Amino acid sequence: MGFRCMFKALALFAVTLTVTATSVAGQAKAGCQSNCGHISIPYPFGTGSTDCNMSRRFFIRCNTSFNPPKAFLTTSDIEVLHISLNGYLRIQYPVGYDCYNSSGSAYYFDARFRLSKFLISHTRNKFTAIGCDTYAYVEGFTGRTYSTGCVSFCYDVADLVNGSCSGIGCCQTALPKGVTDYELSFDSYWKHSKVLSFNPCSYGFAVEDGAYSFSVSDLSNINFSKKKFPIILDWTIGNRSCMEAKMDVDNYACKQNSDCIDPENGRGYLCNCLHGFQGNPYLSYGCQDINECETLKPCSGTCHNLPGSYNCSCPKGFEGDGRKKGTGCNPKVKPHFPILVGTLGIGMSLLFSLLCSSWVYLGLRQRKLNKLKQQNFKQNGGVLLREQLSKREEYGEIAKIFTLEELKKATNNYHESRILGRGGQGTVYKGLLPDGRSVAIKKSLIGNQSEVQPFVNEVIVLSQINHRNVVKLLGCCLETQVPLLVYEYVRNGTLFDYLHNATHPSVMSWEARLKIATENSRSPFLFALCCFSAHYSSRCQVDQHTFR
Ligand SMILES: *[C@@H]1O[C@H](CO)[C@@H](O)[C@H](O)[C@H]1NC(C)=O
Ligand SMILES: *[C@@H]1O[C@H](CO)[C@@H](O)[C@H](O)[C@H]1NC(C)=O
Ligand SMILES: *[C@@H]1O[C@H](CO)[C@@H](O)[C@H](O)[C@H]1NC(C)=O
Ligand SMILES: *[C@@H]1O[C@H](CO)[C@@H](O)[C@H](O)[C@H]1NC(C)=O
Ligand SMILES: *[C@@H]1O[C@H](CO)[C@@H](O)[C@H](O)[C@H]1NC(C)=O
Ligand SMILES: *[C@@H]1O[C@H](CO)[C@@H](O)[C@H](O)[C@H]1NC(C)=O
Ligand SMILES: *[C@@H]1O[C@H](CO)[C@@H](O)[C@H](O)[C@H]1NC(C)=O
Repeated sequence: MGFRCMFKALALFAVTLTVTATSVAGQAKAGCQSNCGHISIPYPFGTGSTDCNMSRRFFIRCNTSFNPPKAFLTTSDIEVLHISLNGYLRIQYPVGYDCYNSSGSAYYFDARFRLSKFLISHTRNKFTAIGCDTYAYVEGFTGRTYSTGCVSFCYDVADLVNGSCSGIGCCQTALPKGVTDYELSFDSYWKHSKVLSFNPCSYGFAVEDGAYSFSVSDLSNINFSKKKFPIILDWTIGNRSCMEAKMDVDNYACKQNSDCIDPENGRGYLCNCLHGFQGNPYLSYGCQDINECETLKPCSGTCHNLPGSYNCSCPKGFEGDGRKKGTGCNPKVKPHFPILVGTLGIGMSLLFSLLCSSWVYLGLRQRKLNKLKQQNFKQNGGVLLREQLSKREEYGEIAKIFTLEELKKATNNYHESRILGRGGQGTVYKGLLPDGRSVAIKKSLIGNQSEVQPFVNEVIVLSQINHRNVVKLLGCCLETQVPLLVYEYVRNGTLFDYLHNATHPSVMSWEARLKIATENSRSPFLFALCCFSAHYSSRCQVDQHTFR
């Protein structure tokens, strides 16, 4: 299989080589002279042997007595300058003239151009006349009959402009389509008598468009009559259209990899190599594949030359159309990475997703906690308390609503060392507020929603009491399920000690406590006392609102 492939490839290479060699040798028929002097002669044109030209009309006579040799069209004395496979050829043809001297007409040449097999290109030529007493025209009789020309009069050499052929001393006109011959004629009104000093002659010629530039000096130059100008002729194969020609397979001129074109100008047809091929379509295997990979270098990836075209491909691991003018070749997004990199990538992505998910989890948990806090706050009468507090702002420092976070900080996250004691309602903690005040933090209890309103009232009232025997309520935290109360922390000389000083043998009776409480004849005192005593015991029964 491999050998076969290689052999095929070698064979293909060899064929390509020979084909290239032929194309280099020229576009004449095999075994025929491809040039005459500097002029190359592609088939269907031919010179020398009668087999070298496709038909009589394509015979080129090469006269080697000139140096370099000159090519002439068929048997005429029309010199060929260039033959193009695109259906035209350039010949050169002498100018016609009509000259005068002081005694009248001196000499003239009515150029007569007659070549029935070729068309004078109507798009690439202009009929041109120069002179200052000039009426020049061309007529044709073969095929289409026509007559056209132009007139030029001028009286002062100063009026003439070099390079401008626009009516003063020089005029140009188009030639009709599809004509094969012309016969030139001149006329003059004053036989150049009025301009003899600078323009004794009228000149006329068909010329390739753009090949002649008017010069004022041409009007006085006697030698201008010896000049020749290029003319473009159109050539076609036969006198039938493509469709007709294709039916006559034996005589059809368009060979492999070529197509037939109906020319815009006149009868017959032309052949053209297919896209992606180049060469001479009139020769067998004359149209050869163009190696676009070499001529255009169109691929940024690997270029494969194909008959009539090419394709581009990208190396393994790359994607794109491989064309320089297209997407080119880019590394694949999902390439086969080395294992290490792959593993690293997987590890990284795992880590990332882990981080991500934990972050999401934490976020969700935080949200849930926050929601719970808000819920607790509401349930514990937080909204009500806040309202009440804001109403009393002007009375100075009253209860503060602590956040759970603040208390957490104050108690060093409820550290064991901060425990003051354990009571029936849980642990009492000592806390340190950011402003340096020491506080005691303990749980309170709200039985049900109906107790919320009284609780809020008590908090407000208690927080406003300044009594030496009453521990001041600084505020509370409502974000927990059970509200947390924050008291001033006092070590000495307060009721705290009095009530709880173990050194006092006679513990204050409830009656005594009540007495203290009623001294101010305000119920909150009772509550306060109760609360206070409840710090460490659950014996407070006085105020049913809060502490049990
Ligand atoms: C080539 O041209 C010559 C001269 O006109 C002619 O005799 C000959 O028949 C032509 N060849 C072909 C194949 O027509
Ligand atoms: C070549 O041209 C010269 C000079 O015009 C002429 O005498 C001669 O006959 C020509 N030869 C051919 C083969 O046409
Ligand atoms: C004008 O040209 C004619 C013909 O060539 C000639 O016979 C005649 O002598 C010329 N006249 C002058 C004045 O040169
Ligand atoms: C026109 O061009 C010629 C040379 O081509 C020059 O000698 C002449 O002076 C120019 N005339 C004008 C009017 O420009
Ligand atoms: C015309 O051509 C002849 C010979 O070729 C030359 O001697 C003469 O000087 C030329 N005249 C002009 C005006 O160029
Ligand atoms: C086409 O050319 C053939 C020979 O080449 C000729 O016999 C025929 O009359 C031509 N037809 C036309 C319409 O010119
Ligand atoms: C390009 O051409 C080569 C040779 O014929 C072929 O093997 C390859 O598959 C083609 N690639 C594309 C992308 O068409």
